[in-house]
Amino acid sequence: MATSVDPRTGLPVVAMVGGGQLARMTHQAAIALGQSLRVLATAPDESAGLVAADVRLGDHRDLAALLDLAEGATVVTFDHEHVPTEHLRALADAGHRVAPGPDALVHAQDKLVLRRALHEAGEPQPAWSEARTVHEVAAFADDVGWPVVLKTPRGGYDGKGVFVVDGADEVADLLERHGSLLVEERVAMVRELAVQVARSPYGQVAVWPVVETVQRNGVCEEVLVPAPGLDDDAATAAQELAIRIADRLGVVGVLAVELFETADGVLVNELAMRPHNSGHWTIEGSRTSQFEQHLRAVLDYPLGATDATAPVVVMANVLGGAASADGWTGPALDERVHHLMAHWPDVKLHWYGKGQRPGRKLGHVTALGTDFEEVRARAVAAARYLADGVVDPAFAFAFADDEH
Ligand SMILES: Nc1ncnc2c1ncn2[C@@H]1O[C@H](COP(=O)(O)OP(=O)(O)OP(=O)(O)O)[C@@H](O)[C@H]1O
Ligand SMILES: [Mg+2]
Repeated sequence: MATSVDPRTGLPVVAMVGGGQLARMTHQAAIALGQSLRVLATAPDESAGLVAADVRLGDHRDLAALLDLAEGATVVTFDHEHVPTEHLRALADAGHRVAPGPDALVHAQDKLVLRRALHEAGEPQPAWSEARTVHEVAAFADDVGWPVVLKTPRGGYDGKGVFVVDGADEVADLLERHGSLLVEERVAMVRELAVQVARSPYGQVAVWPVVETVQRNGVCEEVLVPAPGLDDDAATAAQELAIRIADRLGVVGVLAVELFETADGVLVNELAMRPHNSGHWTIEGSRTSQFEQHLRAVLDYPLGATDATAPVVVMANVLGGAASADGWTGPALDERVHHLMAHWPDVKLHWYGKGQRPGRKLGHVTALGTDFEEVRARAVAAARYLADGVVDPAFAFAFADDEH
């Protein structure tokens, strides 16, 4: 049961570190539960800073800002992994509830810590090693073959901090810049999958269907639900893997397990212990969205049903494209939104309120249906139209109707 509540509402106050789109969408779910998310944002025009009623401005590396955020809140949670571990411990030592706790969260913060833990647990993962010298990288590559993948253990996102290297001459510079690195075999993968599971302090777990994530240039562009063609046994095994990891690490909140599918089964890539891009589809596509479920889990409320609401769901990210570039002369954002709604009345839009810049995650769209190819084409065309102002020829008929 929640220990402290807002006297005005009689309901808990969740404080979230980070003011990006994940906090913004969590706030939206909090409203339905009678709550209002308290947010630590770095600027007033951050995605969640624009909409939440209780926005604190401050840096997630500043312990004083974190303590101020936590004061009077029922529980502190996160929309990113970048809070220093010692600050998380200081919050817990000061008597604040932190979910997920520092001992769990470190596995999503530090890729080397995760690799060691999965090794101890005997869970499947790419061949890996810790490397401090060019010699160590070269010795590893002699075993697994070039190219290898070098990763900064901490601080990476959207593929930043991930380097595919073809030979030893590229390694010295990276080691010099980053110090100790994680080195992995480059996995010959069929595709990327993800499983999300929520876990409460009570130990209840709820898992969503396995999804396929489609990345381009290290950035997720589409999420296909359920993962097309994945057989039931493989899907169940992946869900069980995610539940085992959540239990073993003592995760509280939503956990996303990123997987590589290979010819021999799945390997764990990395974890996120917060709402995740691979779960945006759940807003319309599941009985309980990942955002509501994260709130339920961190508050130790019973978890919601995770059944899909349609046979096929596709989420497509809107990444800043031609329409975000300087000198764009096509339809302005508001006009594009208008057209999107006119031509895809069944597609749902989530716009994050961020400044438009090429490559930036600006929003996403979700389409539901029964025919996989049709649903995917619809979601992708709608997202591209927002990003580039260009109509996929397959949907041009809808725009031609405009002229009448
Ligand atoms: N060992 C590997 N073999 C092949 N491809 C890899 C490997 N590791 C990472 N990748 C590719 O790089 C992408 C980004 O890697 P990873 O998820 O570790 O980085 P990140 O930047 O921390 O994550 P995110 O993009 O999820 O924020 C993966 O989704 C995958 O496409
Ligand atoms: Mg990743």
